[in-house]
Amino acid sequence: MNVTEQTLVLGIETSCDETAAALVMGGYDVISSAVSSQVDLHAQFGGVVPEIASRAHLELLNPMIARAVVEAGVSEQRIDAVACTIGPGLVGALLVGVSAAKALSLVWDVPFVGVNHMEAHLYAAFLEDPTLEFPLVVLLVSGGHTMLVEMRDHGHYRLLGQTIDDAAGEAFDKVARFLGLGYPGGPAVDNEALHGDPEAINFPRAMMHDGLDFSFSGLKTSVINHVRKHPDVSAADVAASFQAAVVDVLVAKARRAAELVGARGLALGGGVAANSLLRERFLTACADGGFHGFLPSREWCTDNAAMIAATGWHRLRSDGPTPLDTGASPNLRLPLRP
Ligand code: KG4
Ligand code: ZN
Repeated sequence: MNVTEQTLVLGIETSCDETAAALVMGGYDVISSAVSSQVDLHAQFGGVVPEIASRAHLELLNPMIARAVVEAGVSEQRIDAVACTIGPGLVGALLVGVSAAKALSLVWDVPFVGVNHMEAHLYAAFLEDPTLEFPLVVLLVSGGHTMLVEMRDHGHYRLLGQTIDDAAGEAFDKVARFLGLGYPGGPAVDNEALHGDPEAINFPRAMMHDGLDFSFSGLKTSVINHVRKHPDVSAADVAASFQAAVVDVLVAKARRAAELVGARGLALGGGVAANSLLRERFLTACADGGFHGFLPSREWCTDNAAMIAATGWHRLRSDGPTPLDTGASPNLRLPLRP
């Protein structure tokens, strides 16, 4: 298949608790994007319940695909390929998207492309700035992952650092739950921190001067110990001080990584990239370090299908279609090269 600037890809995302479909042309041009968040369904349980997620994807996926096609104002016959997240994620949730994508590829007689969700988060920045240059360092911070990745080229990734325990988003979620701030934790801590003093409590900045790996589980324990020792402490001060500790480490290491590899640019990706303090401090660090800093809009930081369609276009162009006997891979890793 000849993959061109006119090639229109339908993207499908069902790896966790967002059901999403989008149409992207030529790998960058978002024609439509529909996302339905299941946050309300899972909120009463304080976290994503896999079985509820799968069932909700089943109900919501066809309406999301229909919405993406209607919003784009194109007929289904115009779609050239179907790209879908095959992992990592919850297996039952992934299977809903993968089955739908394969069925559509067979019915429409167009290629199926399996997409790695982490790789798609790397591509989110390109949706808004296709001119980003390599080498590009991406700080990928989501609910399940915290990584510093060097993109040397399309499809050529090197892992510079990662968390040795909790992911940054996981730390936000756990601290929010402990403070009783609600679910999802990241936005709740972000809002609470607006009213607090980030210097009120000096929480540890783990591994700050120790390579490019991260550790957040000790910070979470420090928060718990501090609140148990000082039960009257203001939740806003705890939220603000915790957030400042996470952001300090993320920003310092991202900047160091960019300096180390001589990056042309530095970008943020993943759900935690929606954090207001991280966004502000990231741009200041880029300006100080002289890198081209790129912040995707919040819409492309959290899970969406436009990033899946965009990545699918690149993979289709370089590797061709994915065989239809490829299944969902809950533990799929980012494909790395030296
Ligand atoms: O990338 P994402 O939507 O899903 C995964 O692939 O994990 O990331 C979800 C994570 C959650 O842990 C959520 O609490 C966090 O991103 N998050 C935030 C904010 N918005 C979402 N963390 C901090 N501040 C935010 N504003
Ligand atoms: Zn994600």
